[in-house]
Amino acid sequence: MAAHDRILIIDFGSQVTQLIARRVREIGVYCEVHPFNKVTEASIKAFDPKGVILSGGPASVLDIGTPKAPDAVFTMGLPVLGICYGQQTMVAQLGGKVESGHHREFGRAMVDITGDSALFSGPWKPGAKEQVWMSHGDRVVALPAGFKVVGTSEGAPFAAIADEARRFYAVQFHPEVVHTPHGKELYRKFVRDICGCSGTWTMAAFRQEAIAKVRAQVGKGRVICGLSGGVDSAVVAALVHEAIGEQLTCVLVDHGLMRAGETEQVVKVFRDRFNIRLIAHDASALFLGKLAGQTDPERKRKIIGATFIDVFEEEAKKAGGADFLAQGTLYPDVIESVSFAGGPSVTIKSHHNVGGLPERMNMKLVEPLRELFKDEVRALGRELGLPDDMVGRHPFPGPGLAIRIPGQPITPECLDILRKADAIYLEEIRKAGLYDQIWQAFAVLLPVRTVGVMGDSRSYDYACALRAVTSTDGMTADFYPFDMAFIGRVANRIINEVKGINRVTYDVTSKPPGTIEWE
Ligand code: XMP
Repeated sequence: MAAHDRILIIDFGSQVTQLIARRVREIGVYCEVHPFNKVTEASIKAFDPKGVILSGGPASVLDIGTPKAPDAVFTMGLPVLGICYGQQTMVAQLGGKVESGHHREFGRAMVDITGDSALFSGPWKPGAKEQVWMSHGDRVVALPAGFKVVGTSEGAPFAAIADEARRFYAVQFHPEVVHTPHGKELYRKFVRDICGCSGTWTMAAFRQEAIAKVRAQVGKGRVICGLSGGVDSAVVAALVHEAIGEQLTCVLVDHGLMRAGETEQVVKVFRDRFNIRLIAHDASALFLGKLAGQTDPERKRKIIGATFIDVFEEEAKKAGGADFLAQGTLYPDVIESVSFAGGPSVTIKSHHNVGGLPERMNMKLVEPLRELFKDEVRALGRELGLPDDMVGRHPFPGPGLAIRIPGQPITPECLDILRKADAIYLEEIRKAGLYDQIWQAFAVLLPVRTVGVMGDSRSYDYACALRAVTSTDGMTADFYPFDMAFIGRVANRIINEVKGINRVTYDVTSKPPGTIEWE
């Protein structure tokens, strides 16, 4: 029997499936995303959910061999909610009819609530009009027996349907995205009332369970954890320390490519405040030596990665070795994504800073954040008492500032100039109250000198670029639309206060086609 009620989300490959999981968890209910081709009657029984959500997806149920939900989903007596493609496959599998839409519908639409349903509450009431987000080419044209229409839109006459007796519900639109402003109400109604889940999945509960799990896994073993200053490793370290105290040693390899004040803050928080055994090794001379003269992005990344592992291993051995390596793998890294390019395939992303080390040192992995999304990790960090500015920090790449000095050798002088510009930019962003709206913001030192006039003299200094993006997962991103007065203020401060920079530009590239970092 699971400790918390659970919801199973069957993924058909929608870009926004993870958002469904986040909405459900925000309601205090634990859920997992499983790819449709891995779900069987046995796996559903083993997971023991109180309800099932079928995600959207890019396929058409009209094609041959398209993804289906296992029939067991509809025969086990569980409530089911279908979203977009999930609605279409539910209808097709239960004997209704789906047609290729002559009226494709992408973007905002209005749904008229035409009937009462257990799915509806609050603003969703008969007679109301609700704004929703649509993204579909196919649409339902005939319902299976037992279903009735409870909502319609111009492009989707069956925008919301329900079979109250069997507790099957489905919508053509996406309630999980922000463009469906009251979408969360539908998830709440489905998960809490229809499925009967209690909202016990809180960070306080997670903290206690995770601590118990770490203790059970580690026993009397020794654990080592690499600290980088990033949110994930900081939360792992604090959690594992709470679980096993002195059995944990943290290693901070300072590669000399951190931002201003970062290493100092990590040492202060972990050594002084949490009293964690922390080895902070300054290896900046070694890293800068190996990077000398290197300008190729891939070469730099390889040098940094390999040197990091060497230094980490050496420090770990000096500290007496370890049986386990703790690291901050998150749920988005473990979800197996559904890809339609060459049929369903499995892509598991892993960004281990110390990849290869566990095998080399014969260590097992402790990954207590494997079930969490980034915002949940932040909530857990606050629960554990980590400082807000550490927990809310933007992501920072493993190779650090080395990939923000493109096209020229990494020298202490360049690093110093970049750190100062970056610190001013971030200070202004915080002052303007924009930090939390931005996924990542940083300065890039460009390999070009430009002519300027400062006072009565000519200057010939570096140009720098400012980057700021919004994103939900780092996979796609939009540049942040600052107002020009803000950009002007930052540029002014950088040029006046940072010796070595006399020109500032703003990067307005989205991802794709750009990437977030310049290298
Ligand atoms: P890109 O530049 O590929 O970056 O759009 C996507 C996200 O990943 C971060 N990033 C890294 N993180 N090691 C990391 O831990 C790396 O080598 C690395 N390279 C890029 C980047 O900062 C952004 O958040």
